[in-house]
Amino acid sequence: MSFPKLRPRRLRSKKVLRQLVSETSLSVQKIVMPLFIKEGIKSPEPITSMPGYLRYPVESCPEVVRDSLEVGIKSFLVFGIPSYKDDIGTQAFSKDGVVQRSIRLIRKELGDDVNLITDVCMCQYTTHGHCGIIKRDRNGKLAVDNEATLNILSKIAVSQADAGADLVAPSSMTDGMVLAIREGLDKEGFEDVAIMSYSAKYASCFYASFREAAYSAPQFGDRRGYQMSFHNAKEALKEIRLDIEEGADIVMVKPALAYLDIINIVKQSFPEYPLAAYNVSGEYSMVKAASERGWLDEKRAVYEILTAITRAGADIIITYHAMDLARWLKEGLDVF
Ligand code: PBG
Repeated sequence: MSFPKLRPRRLRSKKVLRQLVSETSLSVQKIVMPLFIKEGIKSPEPITSMPGYLRYPVESCPEVVRDSLEVGIKSFLVFGIPSYKDDIGTQAFSKDGVVQRSIRLIRKELGDDVNLITDVCMCQYTTHGHCGIIKRDRNGKLAVDNEATLNILSKIAVSQADAGADLVAPSSMTDGMVLAIREGLDKEGFEDVAIMSYSAKYASCFYASFREAAYSAPQFGDRRGYQMSFHNAKEALKEIRLDIEEGADIVMVKPALAYLDIINIVKQSFPEYPLAAYNVSGEYSMVKAASERGWLDEKRAVYEILTAITRAGADIIITYHAMDLARWLKEGLDVF
């Protein structure tokens, strides 16, 4: 009796065959592009820590979105940079806030063919740079007050929905935020607005570039009192489950690249919920920095990383490489 010769290499012998047996594919339809919109500037501004990425004035939003639509990017995550901050982040829920104005403008110019997602958080809007209301705790230490924060988050989400957001994305890791926002939205008649929750958001050094881009670094302490510890994986399942119970429509793991195991167990445990992964600013900057030095082939690095995040189980990827990826895919990137 002869034993069959096992040769996995047979399926790798030519490009069209490799394409045929490919298990994962990247689609621009599943990519979300973050937008930094800054109040009070006249023209786009570069971000030192994120080469190739810009902060845009409110007025130029429709144009940026139109250019992205042309290469197939249809979903946008909008971050506002207000010209005025205070203790409670008033500009985050003001009718004329930077995000609210931007969303109205994009909607007016581009109609319903785009998904507009808004970040629901306070750190860019507060003088202290934390993601909630700061109070003294029992020991006299300044800390984010969970309960006081819920009310503000709900107000922010309602004001963004009122401006025309399709999805709101709470990112402050406040316990109970999804429920508070769902109740707030429903009460105001925004039952159709969905919630994409940053459910498992880790306290990560990979957010540093974003904090420079959005001027949102905490002015004292850090975020370890509310964001998750990267030593933990199973705890992510608890966070995801709670958000689902509270009414999240889409859940998220953040960051992505050093967290592929988390993406994988979340997808395995909750396969019926769309899972987003956030390929964060520091992950972007690393690739950019190495590529600028000629140490990485940027196109290949980006494609490989985003494919890996997809392979791990992400259905949706939020990435600063969005525009570049879409252009490269359109040009025909030789990846197989
Ligand atoms: C706001 C928020 C942050 C990011 C997204 N929303 C920063 C933070 O938690 O400090 C980070 C995104 C990135 O690094 O790309 N809370």
